[in-house]
Formats: sequence, structure tokens, C-alpha cells
Amino acid sequence: MFPILEKKQLAEAVYSVVVEAPDIARRALAGQFVILRLDETGERFPLTLCDWSAAEGWIRLVLQVVGRSTRKLSLMEAGEGILDLVGPLGRPAEICAGEHVVCVGGGVGIAAIHPICRALREAGNRVTGIIGARTDDLLILEEEMTAVTDELVLTTDDGSRGIAGRVTWALEELLKKDPVDLVIAIGPAIMMKFASAVTRGYDVPTRVSLNSIMLDGTGMCGTCRCEVEGKTRFACVDGPEFDGHAVDWGLLLSRLDQYKEEEEIARSLP
Ligand code: NAD
Ligand code: FES
Repeated sequence: MFPILEKKQLAEAVYSVVVEAPDIARRALAGQFVILRLDETGERFPLTLCDWSAAEGWIRLVLQVVGRSTRKLSLMEAGEGILDLVGPLGRPAEICAGEHVVCVGGGVGIAAIHPICRALREAGNRVTGIIGARTDDLLILEEEMTAVTDELVLTTDDGSRGIAGRVTWALEELLKKDPVDLVIAIGPAIMMKFASAVTRGYDVPTRVSLNSIMLDGTGMCGTCRCEVEGKTRFACVDGPEFDGHAVDWGLLLSRLDQYKEEEEIARSLP
């Protein structure tokens, strides 16, 4: 059992959960994720690490309630335990040095980009963050992101906070005026697709973190397969970080949609 130390609501349907997991915290690197199974009847599902402390032995996960398991986790409280927690999984994010890196986080993807910004900053990069949400109330982790970036740009689709518009619009404005060596984008697949389309026009290398559906997380089941540079890759072991300009976005988006009906049925179950 992995005890929950703290649970906090960050926004509507978005929660932060701190879990005691000393072995994972000791080995965690930016860009990695864990796979959880809440109880014996539960499904496995992946969550990207948002934060951790090796010294104190905890990890922090941020989840959006999208289905039955995430709803169940959102209802758990400090003192309760998670049955299985496997990780850290996946290849860590590539961390360069001495460059200007723009990190773009969309919605809940902000949680996943946070440790990458921190690692990039610690490695001596200039880090510009662009974080965006549909509306002010959904914009999460502003304080944490301010602490790990040199400059932070906020956007909301409805203009209730920061620049009115999507993160991709703010990204393009920045690319027009400031030389950028690398862009890292994490958020909804459609956002990562369009962020990669924007940076292609400016010839800026772009890394994305693919939120494929996952099962075992060890490269055995093939559930997370995607196509990058025309080759089949497994997001859990070959990624989750890939070259955004080489991802087959059409295939990824259709695979993400493939269990929509089943997810809808599961959501309606008690
Ligand atoms: P959302 O749909 O509210 O979008 C968040 C922001 O992304 C928007 O405010 C906008 O700035 C941008 N965006 C959305 N659609 C866009 C488009 N068509 N073009 C350009 N920009 C666009 O996001 P949400 O509800 O928070 O959804 C979270 C998504 O992030 C989920 O799909 C989840 O799977 C994914 N996610 C991915 C990771 C990862 O590691 N890749 C981690 C956490 C969450
Ligand atoms: Fe099974 Fe990646 S989740 S191969």
C-alpha cells in the first residue's frame, strides 16, 4: 500500500495527490510517470510525476477526473492507500544546457511540464514558460511555475487572465521576437499537434510528451503504440517524450478516441 499524505483540489475536476513512495521519489527524473492501480478491481492508468522529494520520500501527482479511476482517486483522502504504484517509468526528458527553452503547458499538462522546467533551469538554461487554460479558474500551479521559470506567460482562452487566446498563439508571438533553441510542449494532444505546427514554421526543434493510453507500461502490451518518423514506437518505453515534428498526430488522436464509448459506460457506473 502507498499511503496518501495529502489531497487538494486545484481547480474544477483537477486534484493534487501527494503519496508516500520513497523508492520512486529516490529514482524519479523529470518527464517520467507512474502507473497506478487503486484496488484489486481497478484498472491501471498512468500519471506523469509533477513533483517529488527524495529526502522526504513522497511524490506528487496531478489528475483530472476523466473516467472512473480518476474519479475514485479524487474521492480518496489522506490516510487511505493506493494498492499498486509502479515507477518511475519512461525515459526521462532530455535536459540540455545553456539554451533558451520555451516550455508550453496546456491545462493539466502544466503539472507534467513543471519538473522539466525545474531540471532545465538547474542545468543552466534560460526557461520561458507559457501556461494556459480555458479560463482563469482552471489555470493551475502558477506559483510553482513562477519558481522554476525565468519568465512566465499566462493565457486563457476566454481572456479572464493573462493573454486572451491559446498557448499556441502566445508561442508564435514569442517565436516572432525572441530566438528560441528548443520548445517543449505538454498538454492535450491537439495542443501539442498545433504547437509543433507553429514551431515547424520557425524551424525550432520541438519535444512533446505523448499521453497515449497505457496498460502495462513496460513495452509488452502495445496499447500505447504510436508512430514517430514512420516507425511504430511505444510511448511507455521509447517515450513519452518524442520529436513533435515527427509524430503521426492523426493516428495518435484517433487512438486516443478509440475507447470513448467504453469510457462513457464506465463513467456512468457507480
Ligand atoms: P484543455 O482542453 O482545457 O486545453 C488546455 C489549453 O491547451 C487551452 O487553454 C489552450 O491554450 C490549449 N489548447 C487546447 N486545444 C487547443 C488547440 N486546438 N489548439 C491550440 N491550443 C489548444 O486541456 P485540459 O482539459 O486540461 O486537458 C488536459 C489534457 O492534457 C488531457 O487530454 C490529458 O490527457 C493531457 N495531459 C497530457 C499530459 C502529458 O504528459 N502529455 C499530462 C497531463 C495531461
Ligand atoms: Fe503496454 Fe506501453 S503500455 S506497451
